[in-house]
Amino acid sequence: MKTFRIKGRDGRISAVVCRKHALRGGLSAAELKERGALVFTDSNVLALYGSKLKRYLAGIPVHAMPAGEAHKSEETLFSLLRAMAAAGLRRNSVLIVLGGGVPGDVGGLAASLYMRGIDCIQIPTTLLSQVDSSVGGKTAIDFCGIKNLVGAFHQPALVLADPAFFATLPPRELRCGMGEIVKHGALDGEIFDLLEGEENLFDLTFLAGIVPKNIAFKADVVRKDPEERGLRRCLNLGHTTAHAFELTDGKLSHGEYVLLGTFLEAEIARKRTECDEAYLTRLQALCLRALGEIPALPEGKQAARAALFDKKNTRAEEVVLTVPAARGKYEILRMPFESYETALGEALEKLC
Ligand SMILES: NC(=O)c1ccc[n+]([C@@H]2O[C@H](COP(=O)([O-])OP(=O)(O)OC[C@H]3O[C@@H](n4cnc5c(N)ncnc54)[C@H](O)[C@@H]3O)[C@@H](O)[C@H]2O)c1
Ligand SMILES: [Zn+2]
Repeated sequence: MKTFRIKGRDGRISAVVCRKHALRGGLSAAELKERGALVFTDSNVLALYGSKLKRYLAGIPVHAMPAGEAHKSEETLFSLLRAMAAAGLRRNSVLIVLGGGVPGDVGGLAASLYMRGIDCIQIPTTLLSQVDSSVGGKTAIDFCGIKNLVGAFHQPALVLADPAFFATLPPRELRCGMGEIVKHGALDGEIFDLLEGEENLFDLTFLAGIVPKNIAFKADVVRKDPEERGLRRCLNLGHTTAHAFELTDGKLSHGEYVLLGTFLEAEIARKRTECDEAYLTRLQALCLRALGEIPALPEGKQAARAALFDKKNTRAEEVVLTVPAARGKYEILRMPFESYETALGEALEKLC
C-alpha cells in the first residue's frame, strides 16, 4: 500500500492511497453510515460492481448516471445534487464516487457545491482516472457545448486506487489511460525508463506497478502548483495538438490523441528547441508502440486552426505548446499560427 498526500488551497489534506481490495477494506461502512454517505457511479460500473457495493457498503444508497461523456452535463449534476439532498447528506457527510473520469468530475463538482463543500472519496475505476483525473482536485461538467466549462477546484478527501478494476476495462480504455502514462513518461525520466523497458505495456501486473509512480508524479506537480499557475502547465504536454485532432477528427479516444500529439510535438521540438534528438526518437517509438496502429488523420491545416481555439492558448494567433525536449525535460514553445501550421504539416509526414 502506498500513500501520497496533497494540500489543497483551502488547507485540506487529500490522501491518495494505492491499495488492493479498495471496496472490501478501504472504507468503514459503519463510519460512513454514521456520517451519512451516498455512492455515485455510472450505469456500466454499477452493472459490473453493484453486487460488491451491496456486499461491502451495505445500507449506503447508490445513485447512478448513464455512462459516457455525453452525460457529463448539468442534468446529471442536478440529478446527483437532488439525490444527495434526498439521502439527507449533511455538512460532514461523504460523497463516494466509484467510476472513471466522467463520474469523477461530476461527483467532485457536486461535492464542492453541496452545502458549500462536503468530503468526496474517489474510487477511480479506469486507468485514466487513476493516473490522472482523480488526482489534483479539478472537477467539471461540459456546458453550452464546451468541455469542462463549469467547474471548481475541490480536493478529494481520499482517493483509493485499486488496480483490480483494470481487469474489466476494455482494451480501448486501457490505451486511453496509457496516453497519459506516456505523457508522464515524457516529463519524468524514471517513468520513461520503465515504459521503454517493458515489452507489453498493457500487462496488468506492469500497470499495477506503474500506476503508483504516475500518481506520485502527478501528486508532486499538483502539490507544487495546485491551481495551474505555472508548473502544472507541464501536464499539457502533447495536449494542444491532441485537442486539435480531437476537435477536427474525433474518432479516437482522448488518450490516443495524446499519444499522437506527443509524437507530433516531439517532431516539432526536434527542429525548434535545444533538444536531445536521439531521446525524442525513442519517445516517438514509445508513442507508436502504445498506439498500436497509426490511424488516418485529417490534414494539418484543418487541425492547426482548431489548436487556436484550445482554451489553454489564450493569445490570439499564437499557439502554445508544452513539448518534450530531453529525458525528463520539457519546453514551452510559443509559435505564431503560421509556423505551427507548417510545423504540424511536416510532423504529420513523419507519422506516415
Ligand atoms: N479532472 C481532471 O483533472 C481530469 C483529467 C483528465 C481527464 N478528465 C476527464 O475524465 C473523463 C474521461 O475519463 P475516463 O476515460 O475514465 O471516462 P469514463 O468515466 O467515461 O470511463 C470510460 C468508460 O469506461 C467504463 N468503465 C469505467 N470503469 C470501468 C471498469 N473498471 N471496467 C469496465 N468499464 C469501466 C465507463 O462506464 C465508461 O464507459 C473526461 O470527461 C475528461 O474530461 C478529468
Ligand atoms: Zn489528457
